[in-house]
Amino acid sequence: MNIGLLGFGVVGRGVYEITTSRDDMQVKKVLCLEDINLPDAESVKDIKCIVEDPSIDTVVEAMGGLHPAYEFVRAAIEAGKNVVTSNKALVCTFYDELLPLAKEKGVSFRSTAAVGGGIGWLSELERSRRVQKILEVGGIMNGTCNYILDNMTRFGLDYAEVLKQAQKLGYAEANPSTDVDGIDTWHKVILSSNIAFGVTVDKQSVPVAGIRNIQAQDVENFKAHGLVCKLISTGKRNGEGYSIYVHPTLVKEGDLEAAVPMNYNLITFVGETSDRMSFYGQGAGRYPTAYNVVQDLVDVLEGKGFYAPYGEKVSADNSVELTWYVRGNWTGAVAENWGEAVVTKAVSVSDMHAWIKENPDAFVAAIR
Ligand SMILES: NC(=O)c1ccc[n+]([C@@H]2O[C@H](COP(=O)([O-])OP(=O)(O)OC[C@H]3O[C@@H](n4cnc5c(N)ncnc54)[C@H](OP(=O)(O)O)[C@@H]3O)[C@@H](O)[C@H]2O)c1
Repeated sequence: MNIGLLGFGVVGRGVYEITTSRDDMQVKKVLCLEDINLPDAESVKDIKCIVEDPSIDTVVEAMGGLHPAYEFVRAAIEAGKNVVTSNKALVCTFYDELLPLAKEKGVSFRSTAAVGGGIGWLSELERSRRVQKILEVGGIMNGTCNYILDNMTRFGLDYAEVLKQAQKLGYAEANPSTDVDGIDTWHKVILSSNIAFGVTVDKQSVPVAGIRNIQAQDVENFKAHGLVCKLISTGKRNGEGYSIYVHPTLVKEGDLEAAVPMNYNLITFVGETSDRMSFYGQGAGRYPTAYNVVQDLVDVLEGKGFYAPYGEKVSADNSVELTWYVRGNWTGAVAENWGEAVVTKAVSVSDMHAWIKENPDAFVAAIR
Protein backbone atom coordinates (compact mmCIF):
# COMPACT_ATOMS: atom_id res chain seq x y z
CA MET A 1 0.00 0.00 0.00
CA ASN A 2 1.36 3.41 -1.01
CA ILE A 3 0.07 6.21 1.15
CA GLY A 4 -0.35 9.94 0.63
CA LEU A 5 -0.46 11.49 4.10
CA LEU A 6 -2.28 14.82 4.53
CA GLY A 7 -1.01 16.67 7.61
CA PHE A 8 2.07 16.04 9.74
CA GLY A 9 0.92 17.08 13.20
CA VAL A 10 0.15 14.98 16.27
CA VAL A 11 -1.68 12.20 14.41
CA GLY A 12 0.04 12.44 11.01
CA ARG A 13 3.53 12.08 12.47
CA GLY A 14 2.37 9.11 14.55
CA VAL A 15 0.97 7.39 11.46
CA TYR A 16 4.22 7.99 9.61
CA GLU A 17 6.28 6.55 12.47
CA ILE A 18 4.19 3.40 12.84
CA THR A 19 4.10 2.70 9.11
CA THR A 20 7.89 2.97 8.79
CA SER A 21 8.23 -0.24 10.80
CA ARG A 22 5.86 -2.21 8.51
CA ASP A 23 6.62 -3.76 5.17
CA ASP A 24 3.01 -3.90 3.90
CA MET A 25 2.53 -0.12 3.69
CA GLN A 26 4.62 2.96 3.06
CA VAL A 27 4.01 6.70 3.27
CA LYS A 28 5.25 7.93 -0.12
CA LYS A 29 4.27 11.57 0.08
CA VAL A 30 3.37 13.94 2.91
CA LEU A 31 1.32 17.07 2.30
CA CYS A 32 2.38 19.72 4.77
CA LEU A 33 2.72 23.47 4.86
CA GLU A 34 6.35 23.47 6.04
CA ASP A 35 9.32 21.75 4.42
CA ILE A 36 10.19 18.55 6.23
CA ASN A 37 12.98 16.10 5.55
CA LEU A 38 12.04 12.46 5.74
CA PRO A 39 14.35 9.63 4.66
CA ASP A 40 11.76 7.70 2.68
CA ALA A 41 8.89 10.07 1.91
CA GLU A 42 8.61 13.17 -0.23
CA SER A 43 7.25 16.36 1.29
CA VAL A 44 4.78 18.14 -1.04
CA LYS A 45 2.75 21.32 -0.80
CA ASP A 46 0.18 20.77 -3.55
CA ILE A 47 -2.60 18.19 -3.11
CA LYS A 48 -2.38 17.46 -6.85
CA CYS A 49 1.02 15.81 -6.25
CA ILE A 50 -0.91 13.17 -4.28
CA VAL A 51 -4.28 12.82 -6.02
CA GLU A 52 -2.69 12.78 -9.48
CA ASP A 53 -0.01 10.25 -8.51
CA PRO A 54 -1.23 6.87 -9.81
CA SER A 55 1.20 4.99 -7.57
CA ILE A 56 -0.62 6.25 -4.44
CA ASP A 57 -3.61 4.05 -3.66
CA THR A 58 -4.58 5.34 -0.23
CA VAL A 59 -4.86 8.78 1.36
CA VAL A 60 -4.69 9.34 5.12
CA GLU A 61 -6.26 12.65 6.12
CA ALA A 62 -4.88 13.96 9.43
CA MET A 63 -5.15 17.72 8.93
CA GLY A 64 -8.39 18.35 10.79
CA GLY A 65 -11.00 21.02 10.11
CA LEU A 66 -13.62 21.07 7.38
CA HIS A 67 -11.82 22.98 4.62
CA PRO A 68 -9.73 22.18 2.72
CA ALA A 69 -9.93 18.67 4.25
CA TYR A 70 -13.29 18.09 2.53
CA GLU A 71 -12.08 19.19 -0.91
CA PHE A 72 -8.89 17.13 -0.58
CA VAL A 73 -10.68 13.98 0.58
CA ARG A 74 -13.33 14.35 -2.12
CA ALA A 75 -10.62 14.74 -4.77
CA ALA A 76 -8.84 11.65 -3.46
CA ILE A 77 -12.01 9.52 -3.61
CA GLU A 78 -12.82 10.82 -7.08
CA ALA A 79 -9.31 9.83 -8.15
CA GLY A 80 -10.10 6.26 -6.98
CA LYS A 81 -8.07 6.28 -3.76
CA ASN A 82 -9.06 4.73 -0.45
CA VAL A 83 -9.39 7.22 2.39
CA VAL A 84 -8.69 6.80 6.08
CA THR A 85 -9.32 9.82 8.29
CA SER A 86 -9.28 10.70 11.98
CA ASN A 87 -11.32 13.86 11.35
CA LYS A 88 -14.68 13.58 13.18
CA ALA A 89 -15.87 17.03 12.08
CA LEU A 90 -15.33 16.12 8.43
CA VAL A 91 -16.99 12.71 8.55
CA CYS A 92 -19.88 13.90 10.67
CA THR A 93 -20.60 16.90 8.42
CA PHE A 94 -20.23 15.21 5.04
CA TYR A 95 -21.35 11.71 6.03
CA ASP A 96 -24.07 11.23 3.41
CA GLU A 97 -21.91 12.75 0.70
CA LEU A 98 -18.51 11.14 1.16
CA LEU A 99 -19.72 7.65 1.99
CA PRO A 100 -21.96 7.22 -1.07
CA LEU A 101 -19.21 8.73 -3.23
CA ALA A 102 -16.70 6.20 -1.88
CA LYS A 103 -19.17 3.39 -2.56
CA GLU A 104 -19.80 4.64 -6.10
CA LYS A 105 -16.06 4.80 -6.78
CA GLY A 106 -15.48 1.36 -5.22
CA VAL A 107 -12.95 2.60 -2.66
CA SER A 108 -12.77 2.21 1.12
CA PHE A 109 -13.56 5.00 3.51
CA ARG A 110 -12.73 4.40 7.15
CA SER A 111 -12.59 6.65 10.21
CA THR A 112 -12.18 4.51 13.33
CA ALA A 113 -9.83 6.97 15.05
CA ALA A 114 -12.39 9.77 14.71
CA VAL A 115 -14.24 8.62 17.84
CA GLY A 116 -12.37 7.32 20.87
CA GLY A 117 -8.83 7.91 19.51
CA GLY A 118 -7.17 4.58 20.20
CA ILE A 119 -10.29 2.69 21.28
CA GLY A 120 -11.67 0.19 18.77
CA TRP A 121 -15.12 1.71 19.23
CA LEU A 122 -16.45 2.52 15.76
CA SER A 123 -14.98 -0.63 14.24
CA GLU A 124 -16.73 -2.78 16.88
CA LEU A 125 -19.93 -0.76 16.58
CA GLU A 126 -19.89 -1.43 12.86
CA ARG A 127 -19.39 -5.18 13.48
CA SER A 128 -22.02 -5.24 16.19
CA ARG A 129 -24.79 -3.70 14.11
CA ARG A 130 -24.41 -6.51 11.57
CA VAL A 131 -25.99 -8.98 13.98
CA GLN A 132 -28.23 -6.97 16.26
CA LYS A 133 -30.25 -3.82 16.61
CA ILE A 134 -28.30 -1.17 18.51
CA LEU A 135 -30.57 0.56 20.99
CA GLU A 136 -28.23 3.15 22.45
CA VAL A 137 -24.73 4.65 22.12
CA GLY A 138 -22.83 7.23 24.12
CA GLY A 139 -20.71 7.96 27.14
CA ILE A 140 -17.56 9.88 27.97
CA MET A 141 -16.02 10.79 24.60
CA ASN A 142 -13.77 13.73 25.44
CA GLY A 143 -10.60 13.31 27.48
CA THR A 144 -10.08 17.03 28.11
CA CYS A 145 -13.47 17.43 29.79
CA ASN A 146 -12.99 14.25 31.77
CA TYR A 147 -9.58 15.45 32.95
CA ILE A 148 -11.07 18.74 34.14
CA LEU A 149 -14.11 17.20 35.84
CA ASP A 150 -12.06 14.41 37.43
CA ASN A 151 -9.54 16.86 38.91
CA MET A 152 -12.28 19.17 40.16
CA THR A 153 -13.98 16.19 41.83
CA ARG A 154 -10.88 14.63 43.35
CA PHE A 155 -9.05 17.74 44.51
CA GLY A 156 -11.86 20.28 44.99
CA LEU A 157 -10.17 22.66 42.53
CA ASP A 158 -11.94 25.35 40.54
CA TYR A 159 -12.55 25.09 36.80
CA ALA A 160 -10.13 27.83 35.73
CA GLU A 161 -7.29 26.34 37.79
CA VAL A 162 -7.71 22.83 36.34
CA LEU A 163 -8.11 24.15 32.80
CA LYS A 164 -4.77 25.96 33.14
CA GLN A 165 -3.18 22.75 34.41
CA ALA A 166 -4.70 20.76 31.50
CA GLN A 167 -3.31 23.31 29.01
CA LYS A 168 0.13 23.06 30.58
CA LEU A 169 0.08 19.27 30.30
CA GLY A 170 -1.12 19.37 26.69
CA TYR A 171 -4.53 17.86 27.51
CA ALA A 172 -6.32 21.09 26.49
CA GLU A 173 -5.76 23.49 23.59
CA ALA A 174 -4.93 27.17 24.14
CA ASN A 175 -8.47 27.81 22.89
CA PRO A 176 -10.33 24.98 24.63
CA SER A 177 -13.77 25.76 23.21
CA THR A 178 -14.13 22.70 20.94
CA ASP A 179 -13.61 20.45 23.96
CA VAL A 180 -15.19 22.30 26.89
CA ASP A 181 -18.24 23.50 24.95
CA GLY A 182 -18.93 19.90 23.93
CA ILE A 183 -18.42 20.34 20.16
CA ASP A 184 -15.93 17.47 19.93
CA THR A 185 -18.33 15.17 21.82
CA TRP A 186 -21.21 16.40 19.64
CA HIS A 187 -19.41 15.34 16.45
CA LYS A 188 -18.57 12.00 18.01
CA VAL A 189 -22.06 11.08 19.15
CA ILE A 190 -23.53 12.09 15.79
CA LEU A 191 -21.04 9.91 13.92
CA SER A 192 -21.62 7.02 16.35
CA SER A 193 -25.40 7.37 15.96
CA ASN A 194 -25.09 7.37 12.17
CA ILE A 195 -23.27 4.07 12.27
CA ALA A 196 -25.32 2.50 15.07
CA PHE A 197 -28.72 3.32 13.61
CA GLY A 198 -27.86 3.35 9.87
CA VAL A 199 -29.05 6.93 9.42
CA THR A 200 -27.61 10.37 8.69
CA VAL A 201 -28.38 12.57 11.67
CA ASP A 202 -29.05 16.25 10.99
CA LYS A 203 -26.32 17.92 13.07
CA GLN A 204 -28.39 21.00 13.80
CA SER A 205 -31.07 18.91 15.51
CA VAL A 206 -28.63 17.67 18.16
CA PRO A 207 -28.32 20.03 21.14
CA VAL A 208 -25.06 20.41 23.02
CA ALA A 209 -24.07 22.00 26.34
CA GLY A 210 -20.57 21.89 27.77
CA ILE A 211 -18.79 22.28 31.10
CA ARG A 212 -17.48 25.85 30.79
CA ASN A 213 -19.68 27.22 33.63
CA ILE A 214 -19.11 24.54 36.26
CA GLN A 215 -17.72 25.81 39.58
CA ALA A 216 -16.16 24.19 42.66
CA GLN A 217 -19.39 24.89 44.56
CA ASP A 218 -21.34 22.73 42.08
CA VAL A 219 -18.95 19.85 42.58
CA GLU A 220 -19.32 20.21 46.38
CA ASN A 221 -23.08 20.06 45.92
CA PHE A 222 -22.81 16.88 43.83
CA LYS A 223 -20.52 15.22 46.38
CA ALA A 224 -22.97 15.98 49.18
CA HIS A 225 -25.61 14.06 47.22
CA GLY A 226 -23.35 11.12 46.23
CA LEU A 227 -23.12 12.28 42.60
CA VAL A 228 -20.30 12.85 40.13
CA CYS A 229 -20.46 15.15 37.09
CA LYS A 230 -19.31 13.90 33.65
CA LEU A 231 -19.82 15.23 30.12
CA ILE A 232 -21.95 12.47 28.64
CA SER A 233 -23.32 12.00 25.15
CA THR A 234 -26.45 10.03 24.36
CA GLY A 235 -27.86 8.59 21.14
CA LYS A 236 -30.92 6.47 21.82
CA ARG A 237 -33.76 4.88 19.89
CA ASN A 238 -36.97 6.51 21.00
CA GLY A 239 -39.93 4.71 19.42
CA GLU A 240 -39.56 5.29 15.68
CA GLY A 241 -37.18 8.22 16.28
CA TYR A 242 -33.91 8.99 18.04
CA SER A 243 -33.02 11.10 21.09
CA ILE A 244 -29.52 12.48 20.60
CA TYR A 245 -27.88 15.08 22.85
CA VAL A 246 -24.75 16.11 24.77
CA HIS A 247 -24.68 17.72 28.23
CA PRO A 248 -23.09 17.44 31.66
CA THR A 249 -24.70 14.57 33.52
CA LEU A 250 -24.70 13.61 37.18
CA VAL A 251 -24.11 9.91 37.75
CA LYS A 252 -24.07 8.01 41.04
CA GLU A 253 -20.71 7.64 42.78
CA GLY A 254 -20.73 3.84 42.21
CA ASP A 255 -21.55 4.04 38.49
CA LEU A 256 -18.94 2.96 35.94
CA GLU A 257 -18.66 6.44 34.39
CA ALA A 258 -17.97 7.99 37.82
CA ALA A 259 -14.77 5.96 38.09
CA VAL A 260 -13.26 7.09 34.76
CA PRO A 261 -10.06 8.96 35.69
CA MET A 262 -7.91 11.61 34.05
CA ASN A 263 -8.25 11.98 30.27
CA TYR A 264 -9.70 8.51 29.64
CA ASN A 265 -12.88 7.73 27.69
CA LEU A 266 -15.65 5.23 28.40
CA ILE A 267 -18.02 4.62 25.49
CA THR A 268 -20.94 2.22 25.56
CA PHE A 269 -23.47 0.64 23.25
CA VAL A 270 -26.55 -1.25 24.28
CA GLY A 271 -27.61 -3.92 21.80
CA GLU A 272 -30.80 -5.96 21.65
CA THR A 273 -28.83 -9.22 21.89
CA SER A 274 -25.52 -8.30 23.54
CA ASP A 275 -26.99 -5.88 26.09
CA ARG A 276 -24.48 -3.34 27.45
CA MET A 277 -20.88 -3.29 26.11
CA SER A 278 -18.45 -0.61 27.27
CA PHE A 279 -15.11 0.41 25.77
CA TYR A 280 -12.52 2.11 27.93
CA GLY A 281 -9.17 3.62 26.99
CA GLN A 282 -7.12 6.51 25.63
CA GLY A 283 -9.45 8.64 23.58
CA ALA A 284 -6.66 10.79 22.13
CA GLY A 285 -2.89 11.18 21.85
CA ARG A 286 -0.40 10.61 19.05
CA TYR A 287 0.20 6.89 19.28
CA PRO A 288 -3.22 5.64 20.42
CA THR A 289 -4.89 7.61 17.60
CA ALA A 290 -2.29 6.71 14.97
CA TYR A 291 -2.65 3.06 16.06
CA ASN A 292 -6.33 3.12 15.07
CA VAL A 293 -5.55 4.86 11.75
CA VAL A 294 -3.11 2.05 10.98
CA GLN A 295 -5.74 -0.52 12.02
CA ASP A 296 -8.00 1.00 9.36
CA LEU A 297 -5.17 0.83 6.83
CA VAL A 298 -4.72 -2.88 7.56
CA ASP A 299 -8.47 -3.38 7.15
CA VAL A 300 -8.30 -1.67 3.77
CA LEU A 301 -5.37 -3.90 2.80
CA GLU A 302 -7.36 -6.96 3.82
CA GLY A 303 -10.30 -5.85 1.70
CA LYS A 304 -12.54 -4.99 4.65
CA GLY A 305 -13.46 -2.11 2.50
CA PHE A 306 -16.47 -0.01 2.76
CA TYR A 307 -16.82 1.34 6.23
CA ALA A 308 -20.29 2.10 7.37
CA PRO A 309 -23.88 2.12 6.36
CA TYR A 310 -25.59 5.40 5.70
CA GLY A 311 -29.26 5.97 5.54
CA GLU A 312 -32.06 8.46 5.51
CA LYS A 313 -31.55 11.89 7.00
CA VAL A 314 -33.18 12.11 10.44
CA SER A 315 -33.65 14.85 13.01
CA ALA A 316 -33.26 14.08 16.68
CA ASP A 317 -36.47 14.01 18.72
CA ASN A 318 -35.53 15.28 22.17
CA SER A 319 -38.95 15.38 23.78
CA VAL A 320 -37.73 12.90 26.41
CA GLU A 321 -38.05 14.38 29.92
CA LEU A 322 -35.28 14.43 32.53
CA THR A 323 -34.71 16.13 35.88
CA TRP A 324 -31.92 18.70 36.03
CA TYR A 325 -29.52 20.45 38.37
CA VAL A 326 -29.59 24.17 37.55
CA ARG A 327 -27.49 26.98 39.03
CA GLY A 328 -28.89 30.11 37.37
CA ASN A 329 -32.13 32.02 37.07
CA TRP A 330 -34.44 29.06 36.81
CA THR A 331 -38.08 30.11 37.03
CA GLY A 332 -39.67 26.76 36.15
CA ALA A 333 -41.01 24.10 38.50
CA VAL A 334 -38.61 23.08 41.28
CA ALA A 335 -38.44 19.70 43.01
CA GLU A 336 -35.64 20.51 45.51
CA ASN A 337 -33.31 23.32 46.52
CA TRP A 338 -29.61 22.49 46.72
CA GLY A 339 -28.04 25.64 48.16
CA GLU A 340 -27.86 28.27 45.41
CA ALA A 341 -28.94 25.67 42.86
CA VAL A 342 -32.18 23.78 42.27
CA VAL A 343 -33.26 20.39 41.06
CA THR A 344 -36.06 20.84 38.55
CA LYS A 345 -39.17 18.78 38.03
CA ALA A 346 -39.20 16.84 34.73
CA VAL A 347 -38.28 19.04 31.75
CA SER A 348 -37.72 17.82 28.19
CA VAL A 349 -34.20 17.83 26.77
CA SER A 350 -35.23 20.20 23.97
CA ASP A 351 -36.90 22.67 26.37
CA MET A 352 -33.92 22.66 28.72
CA HIS A 353 -31.43 23.20 25.91
CA ALA A 354 -33.54 26.10 24.63
CA TRP A 355 -33.40 27.57 28.17
CA ILE A 356 -29.62 27.07 28.31
CA LYS A 357 -29.26 29.09 25.08
CA GLU A 358 -31.13 31.98 26.68
CA ASN A 359 -29.14 31.69 29.92
CA PRO A 360 -25.54 31.22 28.75
CA ASP A 361 -24.07 31.85 32.23
CA ALA A 362 -26.04 29.11 34.00
CA PHE A 363 -24.62 25.71 34.80
CA VAL A 364 -26.98 22.85 34.00
CA ALA A 365 -26.53 19.08 34.36
CA ALA A 366 -29.01 16.28 33.79
CA ILE A 367 -29.48 13.88 36.68
CA ARG A 368 -29.30 10.26 35.51
N1 LIG B 1 -4.66 14.69 18.50
C1 LIG B 1 -5.43 13.69 18.86
O1 LIG B 1 -5.21 13.06 19.89
C2 LIG B 1 -6.58 13.27 17.99
C3 LIG B 1 -7.37 12.18 18.38
C4 LIG B 1 -8.40 11.75 17.56
C5 LIG B 1 -8.68 12.44 16.38
N2 LIG B 1 -7.93 13.53 16.06
C6 LIG B 1 -8.26 14.24 14.82
O2 LIG B 1 -7.18 14.09 13.93
C7 LIG B 1 -7.06 15.26 13.10
C8 LIG B 1 -5.65 15.84 13.22
O3 LIG B 1 -5.44 16.18 14.58
P1 LIG B 1 -3.98 16.57 15.13
O4 LIG B 1 -4.11 16.59 16.60
O5 LIG B 1 -2.95 15.71 14.50
O6 LIG B 1 -3.86 18.06 14.60
P2 LIG B 1 -2.52 18.91 14.43
O7 LIG B 1 -1.48 18.46 15.38
O8 LIG B 1 -2.93 20.34 14.43
O9 LIG B 1 -2.04 18.50 12.96
C9 LIG B 1 -2.66 18.92 11.81
C10 LIG B 1 -1.58 19.12 10.79
O10 LIG B 1 -2.18 19.37 9.52
C11 LIG B 1 -1.49 20.47 8.94
N3 LIG B 1 -2.36 21.18 8.01
C12 LIG B 1 -3.46 21.90 8.28
N4 LIG B 1 -3.98 22.39 7.14
C13 LIG B 1 -3.19 21.97 6.14
C14 LIG B 1 -3.18 22.15 4.73
N5 LIG B 1 -4.10 22.88 4.12
N6 LIG B 1 -2.21 21.56 4.01
C15 LIG B 1 -1.26 20.83 4.61
N7 LIG B 1 -1.20 20.62 5.94
C16 LIG B 1 -2.16 21.19 6.68
C17 LIG B 1 -1.09 21.35 10.10
O11 LIG B 1 -0.05 22.21 9.76
P3 LIG B 1 0.21 23.55 10.61
O12 LIG B 1 0.51 23.12 11.99
O13 LIG B 1 1.36 24.19 9.89
O14 LIG B 1 -1.07 24.35 10.53
C18 LIG B 1 -0.68 20.30 11.12
O15 LIG B 1 0.65 19.90 10.95
C19 LIG B 1 -8.16 16.20 13.58
O16 LIG B 1 -9.29 16.04 12.76
C20 LIG B 1 -8.47 15.71 14.99
O17 LIG B 1 -9.81 15.98 15.38
C21 LIG B 1 -6.88 13.95 16.83
